[in-house]
Amino acid sequence: MPGSPPWSPTSWRQRLQAQQVRYDDRDAVEAAAKKLASLPPLVTSYEIERLKSEIADAQRGGRFILQGGDCAETLADCRPEVITAKLKILLQMSLVLIHGLKKPVTRVGRFAGQYAKPRSSPTEKGVVGGAEVELPSYFGDLVNRAEFDPDARRPDPHLMVRGYQHAAMTLNFIRSLLDGGFADIHHPDHWDLSFMSHAGLSPERRAQYERMRDTLADGLRFMEALGEKNVDELTRVEFFTSHEGLNLIYESAQTRRVPRREGWYDLTTHLPWIGERTRQIDGAHAEFFRGVENPVGVKIGPKADPEDVLALVRLLNPRREPGKIVLIVRMGVDLVAERLGPILGAVDASGEPVLWSCDPMHGNGIKTSRGVKTRDFDAILAELEQTIDIHEKTGTHLGGVHFELTGEDVTECVGGAAGIGEDDLHENYTSPCDPRLNYQQSLELAFLLADRMRAG
Ligand code: PEP
Ligand code: CO
Repeated sequence: MPGSPPWSPTSWRQRLQAQQVRYDDRDAVEAAAKKLASLPPLVTSYEIERLKSEIADAQRGGRFILQGGDCAETLADCRPEVITAKLKILLQMSLVLIHGLKKPVTRVGRFAGQYAKPRSSPTEKGVVGGAEVELPSYFGDLVNRAEFDPDARRPDPHLMVRGYQHAAMTLNFIRSLLDGGFADIHHPDHWDLSFMSHAGLSPERRAQYERMRDTLADGLRFMEALGEKNVDELTRVEFFTSHEGLNLIYESAQTRRVPRREGWYDLTTHLPWIGERTRQIDGAHAEFFRGVENPVGVKIGPKADPEDVLALVRLLNPRREPGKIVLIVRMGVDLVAERLGPILGAVDASGEPVLWSCDPMHGNGIKTSRGVKTRDFDAILAELEQTIDIHEKTGTHLGGVHFELTGEDVTECVGGAAGIGEDDLHENYTSPCDPRLNYQQSLELAFLLADRMRAG
């Protein structure tokens, strides 16, 4: 940008950094960064450019971006059954959406590196050995460990290398699964659709779901019947990764130039995003991400001012490159009607190219009377529906969604046809951070979204 000071992979160090990690061993931080800089990249510039062109296509209305996964992925989650289940739910949701929207869907996992978490408070009070103490909050497995214990909560620079290694193992397994076809996901007969037969479901809803399942199965059988080449095409599944680019020591250590391309690539992930708490225009995160070639997501919450959003978009994408910016709006069901329109209007009028995505999770956090963090399926769905309506009114379009979900049978969000109530939440609540949709809730949401956005 004319007039911008020069950028380098470390120019962010001169800026104020929200959510900065306080490491006490500077030498160990340097050693970890040096190690990360010497290791192979987790993704390639070729893949990053491909995702950017798919996001550009979604901006023009030619495809849809489905992003989903854990709030906080943990190193302990690096297990085959957990990875397979997450990949499966994302692929199954994408098939439902392809069928309903009649356009290709790009899948972006919120895993294989989603290890760094911003927190509303840097410290937390609790009891250790009978005494009340104040310890650093848990900032994700890239920074410290979740147990409430002074040793576990001390930021450990070596966890950056461990995070890199676990992201690499996760990606390695995902790439093998996808190369092998992972074929059974193409048959709804093999899916667990038990939410459709839940006793609490209204007969109309059940009939609607069954109709959708049958046409989906027909469509997939038809594509398979077209011949072997198409089956290969169909089963060759593309997959991208994303995570919040919160820890800039980690991100910048893997940021490089690559042969025969201009610019710098952050090679920890295809799509890093800037969180709601770190998107200050003069802050370290905006400074770092304005200099990389990756597409960049930005979370936009209810406090965002339309002019500030526009200024951030211009800073991050001075060349107005299509596919570069994904605005992930997370207003909450109570505020979306009031806050989304002015932002859509300002960005649309400016002509800046962005992809509009909706994160209906982060504005809808609630606490039960017993103090358990949860989210209500109906609020999530209602924010999505209102978002689609507001886009229709403004003449813009929703090009993607962003969910916190898992392929496992957890009980973290309430609602959905399977009928999880507040009293069920304790049964299998394993998220160390925000509550996720489980397998049934995720698939049900995909059916409802596909139905709402149904084409022709
Ligand atoms: C998140 O995505 O887990 C998160 C912390 O979101 P936000 O930055 O939108 O609050
Ligand atoms: Co979250």
